Amino acid sequence: MRKRLIVSAAAGALALILSVPASAAQAGPGAAGIGDPYYPFAGNGGYDVSHYDIRLKYQPATDELEGTTTILATATQDLTRFNLDFVLQAKEVLVNGRAASFAISREQELEVTPARTIAKGSPITVVVRYADKPGEVERGGYSAWLRTPDGGVAANEPEGAAWWYPSNDHPTDKATFDVSVLVPNGTQVVSNGTLTTSQRPGWTRYNYRQTKPQATYLATLAIGKFDIRQDTTPGGLPVITAYSPDLGANAGAARASVERTGELVDWLSSIYGSYPFDTVGGYVPNVPTGYALETQGQIFYSPAQFARGSNTSVVVHELAHQWYGDSVSVQRWSDIWLNEGFARYAQWLWSDHENEGTTQELADFVYDSHPADDPFWSVKPGDPGADHQFSGAVYDRGAIAIQALRNTIGDDRFYAILKGWQTERKYGNATVQQFQAYAERVSGQSLGALFTTWLYTPGKPAAGTSGIGAAPAVAGLAPAAAAAERPEPKSWKKIQETDSVHDKRH
Ligand code: TRP
Ligand code: ZN
Repeated sequence: MRKRLIVSAAAGALALILSVPASAAQAGPGAAGIGDPYYPFAGNGGYDVSHYDIRLKYQPATDELEGTTTILATATQDLTRFNLDFVLQAKEVLVNGRAASFAISREQELEVTPARTIAKGSPITVVVRYADKPGEVERGGYSAWLRTPDGGVAANEPEGAAWWYPSNDHPTDKATFDVSVLVPNGTQVVSNGTLTTSQRPGWTRYNYRQTKPQATYLATLAIGKFDIRQDTTPGGLPVITAYSPDLGANAGAARASVERTGELVDWLSSIYGSYPFDTVGGYVPNVPTGYALETQGQIFYSPAQFARGSNTSVVVHELAHQWYGDSVSVQRWSDIWLNEGFARYAQWLWSDHENEGTTQELADFVYDSHPADDPFWSVKPGDPGADHQFSGAVYDRGAIAIQALRNTIGDDRFYAILKGWQTERKYGNATVQQFQAYAERVSGQSLGALFTTWLYTPGKPAAGTSGIGAAPAVAGLAPAAAAAERPEPKSWKKIQETDSVHDKRH
């Protein structure tokens, strides 16, 4: 499975174009990318979106999708033209009520030329009407619309939005969402936020509202047969869970794991602070994939993750992302450690809570299980490169880095940072450098060496660095032999199961 949809060729050339200061720009076209070095064509320049209104009609039997998406935005420069990230067949585009001309340019870019130049600072309403069969639309042999026997699913990172709605597809341009889908009776729809439905003869309309800022890749859509359950946590938070009725042997374990969402979100709130969104939940469609994705307030799980029994560890991982990834999102995709390091560390905290191995034991175990010549140590979690954005090292070495931070500053300051960072950056974006600066401010310590060692230097740090991988004192054994004696933490297989799921994409 391809994890990247855009090849990062031409990165250098584009970076040059994007480095022209916006203030110096004359009225002209918005850039074809927002300026992310890993994905030069992700997002677009020249405008900022505040809301998406996505109205769809879908026929599961034929994969026919008809849509009208209305985008509310503000111009950030005088614009003669701008791009949307989109791959489906557009029929008509209106800008501020007037027909605009449009063309497909490059891989996933819809180039829109409005009838009149849009002045910097003024509001833009874009209406895009489209019709296509998203499962048949491929880029590089790949479609982000995953067909199922009874419908389809859109859940992808870093990019997948383009297969169901036009957008400014980058985490730095968050917006609120209304997703409204008309489907034949007997078919259900899952998306983000609160749900209401309405009927007309033969058809049901599902309306989902996400009222909190949401990154484009965290919007999800699943259409098919689902058993949808609505409940509330003891604290009053609405919970929506949905399961394909065709999960077979995985059905029991999937429900036994995902139905614990309310309890687990309460536990995580005690560590990260109050839950940032209006709804929480998860869905398990009938897909052959093996991964999960932290889609906002409505998490995507694959049935395969529950093939060896219930797995609350993966639920904790995806729920942790609701804070680390969804509420506080990456500024650039190179900041991915802020998502995956912390989601993996939450699994370690859960292991500790369940008496299945402490975070220190897990850190030491991971440290020992990769010899110095293992390519694992060649990936820098703080800047892994687009090709290694989701490599095991971003997760595991990334989580070791967090244990190293904890060992260096002590539990009180460490937990203050886990929570305080969330308050400081709620609904925003951040870089690894900003996290380091925040941790230095709260701890009063200079942490440059720690971050350099664990996040930015290829190679295996010496045993004992930041208290990681130090040999336990075992009477009668040399330190190296003592380290080799470290037992496998009980939680290891469940954590690794979610990890091998990640590695499958490489
Ligand atoms: N963020 C996901 C996780 O850690 C992993 C992931 C990366 C993913 N790319 C993806 C999942 C594409 C689905 C599709 O849980
Ligand atoms: Zn993750």
